[in-house]
Amino acid sequence: MSAENSQPGADALRPEAIEQLVTDALAAIAAADSTAALKDARLAHAGDRSPLALANRTIGSLAPADRKQAGQLLGAARGRVQQALAARAEQVEAEELTRTLAQEAVDVTLPVDLHPTGAIHPITGLIDLISDVFVGMGWEVAEGPELEAEWLNFDALNIGPDHPARGESDTLFVEPLSNHLVMRTHTSPVQARAMLTREPPIYIVCPGKVYRADEFDATHLPVFHQVEGLAIDKGISLAHLRGTLDHFAQAMFGAGLRTRMRPHYFPFTEPSAEVDLECFVCRGESVGNPDQPCRTCKSEGWIEWGGCGVVNPRVLRACGIDPDVYSGFAFGMGIDRTLMFRNNAADLRDLVEGDARFSRMLKGVAR
Ligand code: PHE
Repeated sequence: MSAENSQPGADALRPEAIEQLVTDALAAIAAADSTAALKDARLAHAGDRSPLALANRTIGSLAPADRKQAGQLLGAARGRVQQALAARAEQVEAEELTRTLAQEAVDVTLPVDLHPTGAIHPITGLIDLISDVFVGMGWEVAEGPELEAEWLNFDALNIGPDHPARGESDTLFVEPLSNHLVMRTHTSPVQARAMLTREPPIYIVCPGKVYRADEFDATHLPVFHQVEGLAIDKGISLAHLRGTLDHFAQAMFGAGLRTRMRPHYFPFTEPSAEVDLECFVCRGESVGNPDQPCRTCKSEGWIEWGGCGVVNPRVLRACGIDPDVYSGFAFGMGIDRTLMFRNNAADLRDLVEGDARFSRMLKGVAR
């Protein structure tokens, strides 16, 4: 090897020059404050093309006698750099972990953007409440299908083939007509089902959906809800019916509220009556008192609530119960209407239009 060639190598291998390279490397390593920066420093000062690696390659250009010392010096220098890299890598990793933990820390005391929760539908809430009132008296809740046999919806309840309610203008018949299925027009077929399958005494309350070929407007829905009550036992009379209705009315509308019965006709009860509620807003004060009109009862003092009566012996017989041994009473109310009076729901369409604000407004119905 020529003297010119050996000159730069010999220069780079001077102890001060090597020390300078180490000093530069250690400064760069100390300054690296992230894994990425440390990687750059490693490449620059310990990589294949780093000044120390390049210096290493020039050892061969030295006089053989000088090679050993230069090799030792460089080896020690590169060892120090490697050690510094390893030590710094540990520190950087620990620092980065601390930083990540600090950044990702969750402050559980910060106010959060609450997800809006839904609410039980007011009708469901009211059904629960009504069921509780009757379960509290030892009654059972019974259910039946919404697609019902025409016989159970009508004939078993003494509603004859030419009764107007059986017309297509009121009832939704389901095709094929030869199957004689209807969307039940009231919850009364559940009483028929109960009488056919249970032995008296029977005390049941049956809330559920009913269907009629009706308008869809503020006071009518083609699908609405009724609650049917049925009590069959020995010695049941109209007095028991009155007491039960009073209790039910007071549970719904407040203590002391009276009910009134007006003679009416239902094929399945005899005698039959319509039940009115004493107006729970004006308690009759608005009657004949134009200075204090009442919007709830239209100043009539009473609100029509539902139908009721003593179960017709023909119905008992059709459902396999001996009318000489047992008697009973039944009643049926509109749940949607009840909600309307009780919670000031002015437009029944709100019940089905799915606006959560309506449900939220009436959230407390069942509490
Ligand atoms: N089923 C009747 C209706 O839908 C209500 C009712 C039930 C009347 C029970 C009397 C007895 O109008």
